[in-house]
Amino acid sequence: MTIPTSFPEDLFQNLKQHQQTQLLHWWDDLNDQQRAELTGQIQQINFEQIQRLYSTEGSSKAEESPAEKAERATRPATVIRLQDRAASDAESESAIQAGNQLLSEGKVGAILVAGGQGSRLGFSHPKGMYPVGPVKQTSLFQMLVEQLTARANKAGKPISYFIMTSDATHAETVEYFQQHQNFGLAEENLYFFKQGTMPAVDATTGDILLEEKHRIAVSPDGHGGMLAALKNSGMFEVMQKKGIDTLYYHQVDNATSIVCDPEFLGYHVQRNAEVSVKVVSKRSPEEKMGIVCDVDQKTQIIEYSDLPPHIAEQTDADGNLLHWAGSTAIHVFNRTFLEQIADNDDLLPFHQANKKVPFVDSSGTQVSPSEPNAIKFERFIFDVLPVANTVLVYEIDRQREFNPLKNAAGADSPETVHAALCRIYSEWLTDCGVSVPEGADVEISPLYALDETELKTKIASDTQLTFPLYLGE
Ligand code: UD1
Repeated sequence: MTIPTSFPEDLFQNLKQHQQTQLLHWWDDLNDQQRAELTGQIQQINFEQIQRLYSTEGSSKAEESPAEKAERATRPATVIRLQDRAASDAESESAIQAGNQLLSEGKVGAILVAGGQGSRLGFSHPKGMYPVGPVKQTSLFQMLVEQLTARANKAGKPISYFIMTSDATHAETVEYFQQHQNFGLAEENLYFFKQGTMPAVDATTGDILLEEKHRIAVSPDGHGGMLAALKNSGMFEVMQKKGIDTLYYHQVDNATSIVCDPEFLGYHVQRNAEVSVKVVSKRSPEEKMGIVCDVDQKTQIIEYSDLPPHIAEQTDADGNLLHWAGSTAIHVFNRTFLEQIADNDDLLPFHQANKKVPFVDSSGTQVSPSEPNAIKFERFIFDVLPVANTVLVYEIDRQREFNPLKNAAGADSPETVHAALCRIYSEWLTDCGVSVPEGADVEISPLYALDETELKTKIASDTQLTFPLYLGE
C-alpha cells in the first residue's frame, strides 16, 4: 500500500466540488496508515452518485416512489398456485423432468446471498454460521451446502455455489468454510464474491459520515449489489466457461428452501421465464415480506418497508388479503438476463433507509444516536423483475419451504426454526411408517436423505430408532 502523507490534490478538488471536505477534517491528526485507509475509501466513492441520490432533484426522489406505485398495484396476473400443481400431476412431473435434465447437463449454478448484517437477529457472526440443526446444531451454511451436494450427487454433475459476502461478513465466512473443509464441497465448485459498500450520509445535511476520524461509515450496498459484484469479480465468466446458464438464488436465512428445486427450475424453463419467484400467502398485512404484484402490467416486488399500511391491508370481496403473495426471495434467473442488467448499471434503483449510524461529530466526539440520523442506500435484486419480459410467479407450501431465521425471539426466530425443522423431519419419518414421539428432536442431513421419497428407501416402519434422532451420512 502506498502511504500518502498529504492528500492528493485531485481527490481534494473532487471532495470540494461535492461539498464533502469534512471527510478530511481530522487529516492532521492521522498517522500514515490511517491516512492511507481514508484515502483508499474516498477513492472508492462515486460522489456524483451520492449527491444525486441525496438531492431532491435526484433520480430516486424525482421518480415515482414505490409507495406511489403501490396505489396502482393489482394481484399478479399469472400465478402457478399450489392447488394447480397438486391437481396436475402430469404437468408437475414434466417440470421435474425438465429441471432434472438441466441439472444433469450441469447447466445450473446456485447463488447464496450472505452479505447482510443480520441486525434483527443480534448474532455477532455472519448469519450463515447460526446453529439451527435441532440435534447437531448444524449451521445454516452447512445445511445449505449439504443440500447442494446431495442435489449434485443425484444429478451426477457438480453444482457450483456462488456465495456473496460483504465487508461485514467476508473474512469470517471464508475462514469458517476453510475450518470445516467447505463442508465437503470441492474447492473448484465453491466461489466467494464480495459485494460493494455505500457510504451513509447525514439525513439533514447530506454529509458523508465518518464512523472514526480515519474511517467512513459504510454498509453493504444491498443484494442488488450482486450484479456489479458478479461482473467485477469475473463470476459471470466462470459461469460461461462452466456452461451454467440458469441460476437458483436464495437467502442464507432459510434452511428449508429446496436448493436447486428441480420442479421450480423445470417450470422456469418450460414457461420461458427470465426470472421466477416463489411466493407464499402472507400471514398478516404487517408481515415483513415484499409483495409480488402487477403495476402497469409489469410483475414486480414492492418491499414491505415501501408498502403503505392501507394498501397492505386491502382485501378482496371474500375478505382475503388482496396482496397475499409474499416473496420468499427464492428465485431462478437466466444468466444472460442478469448479465444484460449488470451492463446497464442504472436499471436498478437505490432504496433509501433512515438508520441510526454512529459517527464522529465536528468536535471529534463519537456519537451513538438514539434516533435515526442517517440515510443508507441499498439496491434490491428483485428490482430486475419489471425489466424481464416473462416472470413466473410460483406458490409454494409455506410450512415445508419457508421457515426463515430473522429475529432473536418471537416469529421467525431460533425457536420457530427449530420447531419447523423437527416438524418436517418428523413428517418424513411418519410417512415411512415410523412413529415419532411428540416433541422429539429430529435432524436429517440432506446427505442421508434429501426428501421423504429418498428417506423411504432407507427407513422402514420396523427400523429401530431412538430419539433425539440424528440421521447423517
Ligand atoms: C427479505 C426481502 C423481502 C422478502 C423476505 C423473505 C429484501 C430487501 N427483502 O427481507 O422482500 O419477503 O426477505 O424472507 O431482501 N443481504 C446481502 N447483502 C445486503 C443485504 C442483504 O447479501 O446488502 C442478504 C442477507 O444476507 C440475507 C438476505 O439478503 O440473506 C435478506 O436480507 P434481509 O435484510 O434480512 O431481508 P428481509 O428484511 O428479511
